[in-house]
Amino acid sequence: TVELNPTLLPLEWLLGTWECDEPGEGSFPTIKPFRYTETLHFSHVGQPVINFMFNAFHAESKKPMHRECGFVRMQPGTNRVAFIIAQNSGLVEIEEGELTGQQLSLQSQQLARTSFAKEPYVKQICRVFQLRPDGKLEQTVSMATDNQPLMQHLRITYRRSS
Ligand code: HEM
Repeated sequence: TVELNPTLLPLEWLLGTWECDEPGEGSFPTIKPFRYTETLHFSHVGQPVINFMFNAFHAESKKPMHRECGFVRMQPGTNRVAFIIAQNSGLVEIEEGELTGQQLSLQSQQLARTSFAKEPYVKQICRVFQLRPDGKLEQTVSMATDNQPLMQHLRITYRRSS
């Protein structure tokens, strides 16, 4: 095993595999509320970069749904964190924000999509990861689209599985 790059020590708590402990809740004013499961993988190869994959599934049928993968970087000597993300929906994004204790608050800085992406387009994304005192990880995602203001889309908690 490779030693973690010291730049990333503040994010060591994120590394590993996380399984949702109960289905996550999805909502938005324009859609039917839904439930989903999701597995997160955070790993590294010694670079000052964390590699990640998020795979979401339909809670009942278990069919694959949303998927994201990318990289996490930290600005050395600061609490500034960047997520570089590609989504299977055709969206790519840069999110940046701050690490405070074991809470990461991120806001989209750049969004781009395929020319033939479905409307409505996402205009803004805010995401929070928090390691709770009970050892569970929580993720919430809010978004704004062409026709809706910033509002929660996702909320889910995970337990560490490895
Ligand atoms: C719908 C964005 C993650 C499941 C949507 C819509 C957008 C969107 C723009 C359409 C809203 C509308 O029609 O007004 C995103 C973004 C995500 C994300 C930016 C990540 C940052 C997820 C995840 C799931 C999910 C993890 C889990 C399965 C759904 C479902 C719908 C939906 C079921 C409604 C049906 C559909 O349009 O496919 N999402 N989503 N989304 N999203 Fe997400």
